[in-house]
Amino acid sequence: MSEIVKARNVSMKFKAVDALTDVSLDVAPGEQVALLGHNGAGKTTLFRILLGFIRPTAGSISIAGFTPGSDGARRIVSYLPEQVAFPKMLTGREVVRFYARLKGAPLDDVQAVLAKVDLVDAADRRVETYSKGMRQRLGLAQALVGRPALLLLDEPTSGLDPLSRQHFYELIAEVARQGGAVLLSSHGLSELEAKTDRVAILRKGQLVADAPLSDLQREANLPIRIRVRAASSEIDSVHAEMGGARINGASVELFCELGDKMRILSRISGLGAKVEDVDVSPPTLDQIYRHFSKVGDDETPRGML
Ligand SMILES: Nc1ncnc2c1ncn2[C@@H]1O[C@H](COP(=O)(O)OP(=O)(O)OP(=O)(O)O)[C@@H](O)[C@H]1O
Ligand SMILES: [Mg+2]
Repeated sequence: MSEIVKARNVSMKFKAVDALTDVSLDVAPGEQVALLGHNGAGKTTLFRILLGFIRPTAGSISIAGFTPGSDGARRIVSYLPEQVAFPKMLTGREVVRFYARLKGAPLDDVQAVLAKVDLVDAADRRVETYSKGMRQRLGLAQALVGRPALLLLDEPTSGLDPLSRQHFYELIAEVARQGGAVLLSSHGLSELEAKTDRVAILRKGQLVADAPLSDLQREANLPIRIRVRAASSEIDSVHAEMGGARINGASVELFCELGDKMRILSRISGLGAKVEDVDVSPPTLDQIYRHFSKVGDDETPRGML
């Protein structure tokens, strides 16, 4: 099946601000793509374009073959905005029913969706009594109703506790398993806990990476940290053999590229009983993200796009 989102060379200029420059991005059915970027990188602008709220100054977009914002597109797209706001006087159930009606979804869906987001018990309470997490879950409920072919989520998990975040990602994964395309924005990879198939990174309106996380890890080629703890009174000898920096009087810290890791580990194991323990730390998700989204640095990340 062809892409649900097909964005080609999209640019958006707001007077002097280049919010997006020449962005091309595809999202296929069943695919979850994370759109990452710092504040002002252009994430929300891209969502607003995909929704048809604003027209790009250049480029083309199709949503399953439809023009953004057309009736055809609106029937199949759901959106959870950055800031969810619902009429306070309505109950959770009334909110979801309202969106179900807008999308022409069967009203039977409402109860099922409320159950999914764990709001059945609170469904008949006014939204003004909801906690922040509950409001966010209600936002997801309105987005899930009607089985959207494309789910757009703008920072859906910001402000959620880890357990709620986990639950959110499970529900989003279920949409993808059922063939929906998901595009969700976030400020960093660590918030995402590497839950998506592909990661697209915007930096100052330009797409600087678009690849599975494992590819980004390889491309970034960030150093791996190896800490070797020496057996008692062997630190001088271990340091002389391995080099690196001495830490805490008993350990040596080394950094190496992925391609050198096994060679170094086998040298360490060659030291036998002189070594008490080895700790290998790959780059964190945060470090990988920072590598691709460096601010104030116009060097193009190695090997990407
Ligand atoms: N209507 C507008 N008029 C003028 N400038 C705008 C408008 N909308 C967005 N911008 C500018 O476009 C740039 C991208 O903004 P956008 O809201 O897309 O960023 P974002 O990645 O969603 O950031 P955040 O993480 O803070 O939500 C910013 O410089 C912003 O000031
Ligand atoms: Mg935004």
